[in-house]
Amino acid sequence: MLAATLLGVGATSAAAGAPVPAACLDCHVPHYASHGGCVDCHRGDARAARPDLAHHRLLAGAAAAWALPGSPVLPRAVALRDSLGCRRCHVTGGKGERLAINLDTVAWPRTQQELRASLVNPAAAMPAFGLGARTADTLAAVLLRDADRHGGSPRYQVRFRAGSDDSLRTFARLCGGCHLALTPDGPQGTGADGPDLSGLTGAFHPTAADSAWSRARLERWLGNPRALRPQATMLPVAVKPDELDAVLRAVTPPPAPAGR
Ligand code: HEC
Ligand code: HEC
Ligand code: HEC
Ligand code: HEC
Repeated sequence: MLAATLLGVGATSAAAGAPVPAACLDCHVPHYASHGGCVDCHRGDARAARPDLAHHRLLAGAAAAWALPGSPVLPRAVALRDSLGCRRCHVTGGKGERLAINLDTVAWPRTQQELRASLVNPAAAMPAFGLGARTADTLAAVLLRDADRHGGSPRYQVRFRAGSDDSLRTFARLCGGCHLALTPDGPQGTGADGPDLSGLTGAFHPTAADSAWSRARLERWLGNPRALRPQATMLPVAVKPDELDAVLRAVTPPPAPAGR
């Protein structure tokens, strides 16, 4: 719809001023010109006259808002990122757990289609959030903005521990039938009846916003979920103290490296 209104009638770079690239304006009328040239927000190749070449790695719709100051898309994207808890696994915008790849170092080179695919059909150890293409593009706007700001941040390698203790077996046995978790020892669990417990005790799990999951709180929850959340559907799970310790190890994100 917008594309139709913006398709220009003979707009030229001369009419719009020097910094706006010429080829885009052969076919489009400018907008947001005070915030930069077309390729600053949309990418593309400003020298190409053929649309397929001009639209190389194009960012369209919500994803293009990454560079637009005051766009309402970015606050929506930030709220989504935080309510879905992307940072319980990923560093993005310089913050988050290191259970999965640093999005600040990988998001920028991705095309809009690739980012969309990663969110709509996520990797095996990433929760299936059930996002549609439009929501994915909204999220892409904040991933791209943060990658632009933090792209120079140090890369890190996700290394899973050797799994030397019994936390995995205990988690799999007591919780894994209903929950998934990406743990410091790798992905665990087979069930998805309950929420993903990756990084549960860290600062970035979506439920940490209400109250952090301490040992005492988790113990209370397992004893009687309805004592904490009257509508909870999880049934009590009997755990011995050593089992609770083991489960806690599985859902505790790796420690922050020195200097973070
Ligand atoms: C030769 C004409 C032509 C040139 C040059 C051209 N475009 Fe387009 N552009 C179109 C047409 C036609 C459409 C609508 C159909 C489509 O999506 O391919 C479009 C669509 C778009 C869209 C919306 C895409 C979508 O999926 O909604 C964006 C954004 C866009 N162009 C940006 C650019 C930018 C940035 C440049 C310069 C780097 C550029 N265009 C150069 C013809 C052109
Ligand atoms: C500051 C960032 C910015 C600049 C500069 C910019 N755009 Fe956009 N553009 C956007 C955003 C964000 C949208 C999504 C709708 C909206 O917010 O208006 C958009 C929408 C469009 C659309 C409609 C299809 C779509 O992607 O939703 C076209 C076509 C388009 N822009 C082409 C251009 C062209 C051509 C230029 C250069 C003359 C340009 N834009 C400059 C940010 C920008
Ligand atoms: C439970 C952990 C977890 C959560 C939560 C999570 N992801 Fe992922 N994500 C992964 C894993 C694992 C991969 C595969 C790459 C890897 O092994 O690090 C991945 C891959 C990706 C990729 C593709 C990276 C690439 O290499 O191209 C993107 C983009 C991404 N995630 C974005 C998000 C966003 C946005 C959110 C929040 C809506 C999110 N993820 C939530 C675990 C997670
Ligand atoms: C029989 C299935 C089942 C088992 C086994 C189970 N859970 Fe749950 N769990 C659920 C369901 C369903 C929910 C969603 C509860 C609600 O309605 O809020 C849940 C919610 C939770 C929550 C709240 C998290 C959030 O994001 O809201 C925590 C924490 C939790 N479970 C921990 C555990 C741990 C730890 C174990 C193993 C000791 C475990 N659960 C075993 C089904 C299960």
